Amino acid sequence: MSLQKPIVAFVLGGPGAGKGTQCEKIVKKFGFVHLSAGELLRNERDSGSKDGNLIQNCIKDGKIVPVEITIALIQKAMEKSSVKKFLVDGFPRNEDNLQGWNNRMTGIVDVKCVLFFDCPEEECIRRIVERGKTSGRSDDNIHSLRKRFNTYKEQTMPIIEHYEKLNLVKRIPATGSPDEVFQDVKEAIDSILN
Ligand code: C5P
Ligand code: MG
Repeated sequence: MSLQKPIVAFVLGGPGAGKGTQCEKIVKKFGFVHLSAGELLRNERDSGSKDGNLIQNCIKDGKIVPVEITIALIQKAMEKSSVKKFLVDGFPRNEDNLQGWNNRMTGIVDVKCVLFFDCPEEECIRRIVERGKTSGRSDDNIHSLRKRFNTYKEQTMPIIEHYEKLNLVKRIPATGSPDEVFQDVKEAIDSILN
């Protein structure tokens, strides 16, 4: 049994803020394991799971899937991994996610920070519309995107504010190029590893 608890950095920010792109870079440089809640849910939906329809309906409308489903996927992925440094990307997205996490994970893992990618809505929309040309994602269209942004503003921003009060938020300005943004990300990750 390892004496150290697994460490977690949550990764939040609007759709198109660059969460996935920056997570890839963190994985390469720092050896974290990237767990994207959205990706885990899409894979679960595609696996023929009994929750597939519920998940797809949420994704299409930019709604947040009940935490029981999401947390089980995250926990399973964590247990499977031998590396115990995790980027939990796109989570916790709302109060239900936060409660579910706290109930299940308090004392088991060590939440080191929340990387918050701060990017203006117009830039995010531009990026997602571009990504939508090739992503194949059913929610990368302007119709779903509006809903995803509403959910982000109404439900996710309060979670970021909650973690701000706990002094855990590392705000990263995210309008620059991926390499520019990564300069700040590196500093933030260095500061939690030391
Ligand atoms: O983060 P990403 O853009 O990949 O999320 C896509 C969708 O997955 C969200 O709009 C939401 O419907 C669903 N999701 C969720 N709960 C999370 C993360 C994502 O329901 N914690
Ligand atoms: Mg993503």
